[in-house]
Amino acid sequence: MANIAAVWLLTISLVAWHCSCLDNGLALTPPMGWLSWVRYRCVTDCKTYPKDCISEKLYMEMADHLVSDGYRDAGYVYVNIDDCWSALERDKDGTLQADPERFPSGIKFLADYMHKRGLKLGIYGDMGTKTCGGYPGSKFFMESDAMSFAEWGVDSFKMDGCFSTATEFPISYPIMGQWLNRTGRPILYSCSWPVYMSHLHPSANYTQIAEVCNIWRNSRDIEDSWAIVQDIMSFFGKNAVNLSAIAHPGAFNDPDQIIVGNYGLSYDQERVQMAIWAILAGPLLMSNDLRNIREESRELLLNKNIIAINQDPLGIPGTQLLAGDMQVWMRPISPKGSFALAFLNFLINGGGPKQVETKLTELGLTGAGSYNITEGFTGKFIGLFKPSSTLTVRVNPSGVFLVVARPV
Ligand SMILES: *[C@@H]1O[C@H](CO)[C@@H](O)[C@H](O)[C@H]1NC(C)=O
Ligand SMILES: *[C@@H]1O[C@H](CO)[C@@H](O)[C@H](O)[C@H]1NC(C)=O
Ligand SMILES: *[C@@H]1O[C@H](CO)[C@@H](O)[C@H](O)[C@H]1NC(C)=O
Ligand SMILES: *[C@@H]1O[C@H](CO)[C@@H](O)[C@H](O)[C@H]1NC(C)=O
Repeated sequence: MANIAAVWLLTISLVAWHCSCLDNGLALTPPMGWLSWVRYRCVTDCKTYPKDCISEKLYMEMADHLVSDGYRDAGYVYVNIDDCWSALERDKDGTLQADPERFPSGIKFLADYMHKRGLKLGIYGDMGTKTCGGYPGSKFFMESDAMSFAEWGVDSFKMDGCFSTATEFPISYPIMGQWLNRTGRPILYSCSWPVYMSHLHPSANYTQIAEVCNIWRNSRDIEDSWAIVQDIMSFFGKNAVNLSAIAHPGAFNDPDQIIVGNYGLSYDQERVQMAIWAILAGPLLMSNDLRNIREESRELLLNKNIIAINQDPLGIPGTQLLAGDMQVWMRPISPKGSFALAFLNFLINGGGPKQVETKLTELGLTGAGSYNITEGFTGKFIGLFKPSSTLTVRVNPSGVFLVVARPV
């Protein structure tokens, strides 16, 4: 162990120079796809749960549905493995290996399977000694793990931060970024770094994070729960200005997975998650069962107008303009001078839909001419408004009214 530690320190001193390795050409808009964690966690008992266990079959079946049900063509191309995919031990050469029972064909096979269908494969690891689920971590093995991923044809790597210490994050994440870069294969780099730093001092340095990672998880893990969606939104609302200033094409905040189509959200709440993730320029990584999903949820996930806001090429994340029970969020989109605006109703005792009247100038719509305002989900024309005029919308309880305003 002493030797390994010495090699580790040497590695740190060799590669911890300033480097803009991130220039991999990926995530110019927020990545879209599917990720197993929220819905399937670390289910490894394939005998009892053959449809739900972390296995090559699960990822292949999801890939098939991404293709056949229109998701791939709407932009959802990443199929991302999360924790608990590997064997509990590395092989005798120290190489990571997939669990032989659950992934009998191996990861390269799975990557080929995705590529043949116009999809991409993502994988998961951890910068510490173990993954959060107790599988082998990449500490002391970053170079060889990066090489394994590249050899297998992996397209995205999410590195978690369990089983490590606070001082390691700003050092180890850049090191892994450098090893990924050196493989020569463009691999989208998803970092959990700020999640682990946000409760610590000094807090995460987002300038550095955006130089190293394509996407980064800022706040707590999402769960299949409306309360947790609101909690994450509240974090982004409070820090909206700083978080928005840091992100740009190639480097985005990650409010975590899309839970639309699961158990925890009503239809209106699902619309809120889609609208706010679009405003935040958050990755759209669904974690749900595409084999068995409500049609209204599928249509929402495939909504072209929402996806267009999420994928806006300017890549400027929005901010919360107004906090509280009746909220307003806004994102600048193209063409220049246009905005997506989300009105939210979080009143507990407000009865039915709540009417909101706002002067456009109060929303920052101060252009010289008029605005053409359309409804955000349907694209339906609402009206032409001068900045001095008042926009009136009705917002459902725990719901959203989304509009797009374009200067004319
Ligand atoms: C590696 O980093 C260099 C320098 O930033 C960049 O030009 C190159 O495209 C990167 N390569 C990959 C595969 O990410
Ligand atoms: C944050 O990171 C940037 C870029 O690496 C660096 O220039 C800056 O000094 C860092 N800020 C702090 C407070 O460490
Ligand atoms: C932005 O970050 C600075 C420095 O970390 C902090 O002082 C400030 O309160 C933050 N502002 C917002 C709006 O979060
Ligand atoms: C306003 O937008 C609608 C919907 O996109 C479009 O059909 C209409 O032509 C636009 N009107 C003007 C005056 O730009």
